[in-house]
Amino acid sequence: MPSRKSSIKVGFIGYGTVASGAINILRSQQELIARRLGTRIDIARVADLDIKRDRGIALDKGLLTTDAMDIVKDPEIDIVVELIGGTDHAKGFILDAIAQGKHVVTANKALVAAYGEALFAAASEKGVDIGFEASVCGGIPIIRAIKEGLAAEQINSIYGIVNGTCNYILTKMLEENRDFSEVLKEAQALGFAEADPSLDIGGGDSAHKLAILASLAFGTPVSLEDIYTEGVEKISPVDIAFADDFGYHIKLLAISKRIGDEIEARVHPTMISNDTLLSNVGGVFNAVYIDSEALGSTLYYGQGAGSLPTGSAVVSDLIDIARNIRSGSPGRVPPAAFVPAARKPLRIKPMEEIESLYYLRFMVKDQPGVLSKISGILGAHGISISSVIQQGRKAVGVVPLVMMSHRAKERDLQLALSEIDRLEYVSGATLLIRVEGEDEE
Ligand code: HSE
Repeated sequence: MPSRKSSIKVGFIGYGTVASGAINILRSQQELIARRLGTRIDIARVADLDIKRDRGIALDKGLLTTDAMDIVKDPEIDIVVELIGGTDHAKGFILDAIAQGKHVVTANKALVAAYGEALFAAASEKGVDIGFEASVCGGIPIIRAIKEGLAAEQINSIYGIVNGTCNYILTKMLEENRDFSEVLKEAQALGFAEADPSLDIGGGDSAHKLAILASLAFGTPVSLEDIYTEGVEKISPVDIAFADDFGYHIKLLAISKRIGDEIEARVHPTMISNDTLLSNVGGVFNAVYIDSEALGSTLYYGQGAGSLPTGSAVVSDLIDIARNIRSGSPGRVPPAAFVPAARKPLRIKPMEEIESLYYLRFMVKDQPGVLSKISGILGAHGISISSVIQQGRKAVGVVPLVMMSHRAKERDLQLALSEIDRLEYVSGATLLIRVEGEDEE
């Protein structure tokens, strides 16, 4: 039933960086929003454990509470916005809000990645909407692009730079030839990093976002455990320089591809040609490249974190849901982009089954026979080399020996590396970086 409500009432659980951004926008753009929506969005209550801290927003103190249940249970509130992060309490509040017949907006990628299926099912059953645009790539409207803009598209592949902290680190390492640990501190100071920064640099944050994107794009549940996840910790300036010599940039990519009735879903440092748009996305910016059947290539670029960009995504969900409330059409767009009964579980290929081109950096003693021994082991596993670089000469110590392979199977490559890494003139574990691109004939 269309609603004649004179305004849509919203309650916030969590009054941190993202909530402040959303509340700022709701206040500063009140008139614009009303012109687009046809009615006002009013902030009814805001809950946070800390209601004393000054956020620089002149919010009526009477709206503040330390009890999230004041929002969940308030019969006047139409939409509950969950912005506390973490999974346990957030999940409980959202399910309680849905049970009360309230619509929900969340920016919580860890929650949606782990429990999206249960939350979507609860929302669909209750006939309410759940918006999570802010959970992936902050202000970039990538969820809405996949669910609505690309609704006619069979999506073939997704390549995303979805973690600003890692992208900042890799950009600075390339542009300023600096070490990983030094730039990491700088990146954390920018305020983009997760409360647990190992989620950024270890790739976990990107895996959360990829689980959400792949699930929407391919109409399948995606379990986080099935996403191969590798971070950027092992990348050193020497690899960035070698990549440059070969015409590549290194990015932490979240990759998902449809291959028949299976998908790939993986997060790892990846070399991509330095003449692609994606490879030139620098600093804290995010970008998602999608290849789809009728449309071909599209690229979505912008700020993947921050108070106002992420707050903007939250407010866009509020407006979307408010429109549904007013037109009596909640659930118009299914939360997972496909109607629940039409979603099909697709197998996610285990990592050993993928094929790729590879960059390999061995640290070896500079002595006769090393190159032929290593290439012999690779050859015995069916791996063919396309280029080799060995720089410098050292009578003592080790030097980097770099090889680029033709397309090879990950399983074969890992078997070869386990043999190579045991050779007495090879020092430490070999660094492997997967390369996206065409194999040279
Ligand atoms: N830690 C994330 C990043 C924040 O660095 O991109 C946005 O999810």
